[in-house]
Amino acid sequence: MVTALLGDQVSDRNKSAVEQFFVAGREVDRLSFMTEDIEWWNGLGKFPAAPGQTVFRGKDEVGARILGRAPSPPQPNGRRIDRYDLSTISFDDVHTIADGPYVFRQHLYKATTIGGKPYENVYGFLFRFTDDGLIDRIWEHWGTLNAYETLFQGPLVVHDPDEILMTTPSVRQRLDLERSVDRDVIAECMEIAVHAPNGSNQQPYRFIFVDDAETKAKLAAIYRSAMADFIGRPRTDAAEDRVDRTSEAQQRIARSVAYLAENIEKVPVLCVPIVAGRTDGNGSGAHADRTSTFWQAGRWGSVVPALWSFMLALRSRGLGSAWTTLTLIREREVAEVLGIPYDEWMQVGLFPIAHTIGTDFRITPRKPAEELTRWNQFRSS
Ligand SMILES: Cc1cc2nc3c(=O)[nH]c(=O)nc-3n(C[C@H](O)[C@H](O)[C@H](O)COP(=O)(O)O)c2cc1C
Repeated sequence: MVTALLGDQVSDRNKSAVEQFFVAGREVDRLSFMTEDIEWWNGLGKFPAAPGQTVFRGKDEVGARILGRAPSPPQPNGRRIDRYDLSTISFDDVHTIADGPYVFRQHLYKATTIGGKPYENVYGFLFRFTDDGLIDRIWEHWGTLNAYETLFQGPLVVHDPDEILMTTPSVRQRLDLERSVDRDVIAECMEIAVHAPNGSNQQPYRFIFVDDAETKAKLAAIYRSAMADFIGRPRTDAAEDRVDRTSEAQQRIARSVAYLAENIEKVPVLCVPIVAGRTDGNGSGAHADRTSTFWQAGRWGSVVPALWSFMLALRSRGLGSAWTTLTLIREREVAEVLGIPYDEWMQVGLFPIAHTIGTDFRITPRKPAEELTRWNQFRSS
């Protein structure tokens, strides 16, 4: 005969079950604390294995999805999903309240992810117990944004697309020259970049990455010679020849440009993106006289969107680059170093790539959009 438990005894039994649920080692099956028709609400709605789902029902689903016993399906963006390493977990600041069939427990959960990142989050769990002492309902309240960004978003340092678009500067002095760049991260950013729009979806571009010291040194020498050519050019009344260099902002840019020129061969990776077909009259075959705006816009427009996507993907992963075009003054020399058929391919520039020193960047200073926007008619002011 089962003796009915008194109120306090019920609370104590349920409270100790909750304690066991969290602290028991892996030899204890957490599913054994639950009824067959357990319901677990976790409010996230962005579980990689169950997008849009916030309630998980039955032991099979809870085991596979929440307790993570089934592998996550591959993500559409190819990003790897991290998760915490169960052997590293600890609980701090634990508060437990038991009242009849309900137990509420809040704690600070600390763990290291399998990818090596520290994870810390506050969780509040409300458990409901049956008369038999099994859990039939769990409401899990937790810092969902923190969990999502740390566990499920891969190695991104910026998640908000607007922030990435507004804080991607030309990085020169904050390029980390000491830290190497893994080819995998370049490959990942390229996977993203190739989805940019381009003419007739022919993707008539290639990105040549250089991490070989000797080749980088040759490109650096060309960059510095081209810079000397540019500084020594005859001046005209064109706007680009009349930049006022006296302001503090312009002097800062000048210092930064000089720093890059001095250190460019030390940057871990240099990239030369190229597009098929010349529009400067130096091309061969059909491209020899395709110099109109129509052809120019089509060629540049078939590489620049992918390049900017690539730079934004670098930024969201904690790397940076700078758009530089000086080497185009000596484009033939670069073509020779890299074996690019000059008559058939135009270079976009030279892009230094490195991890950035720190990942916080201010909003890039620009004119207000209103000044650059017109409706219906061009007006000069
Ligand atoms: C078409 C183009 C050409 C550029 N060429 C160079 C260059 O040859 N060397 C360099 O150090 N920076 C170059 N820059 C970077 C600009 O100087 C930089 O974007 C600008 O000063 C604004 O700085 P921010 O992007 O960091 O806000 C170039 C940028 C563009 C878009």
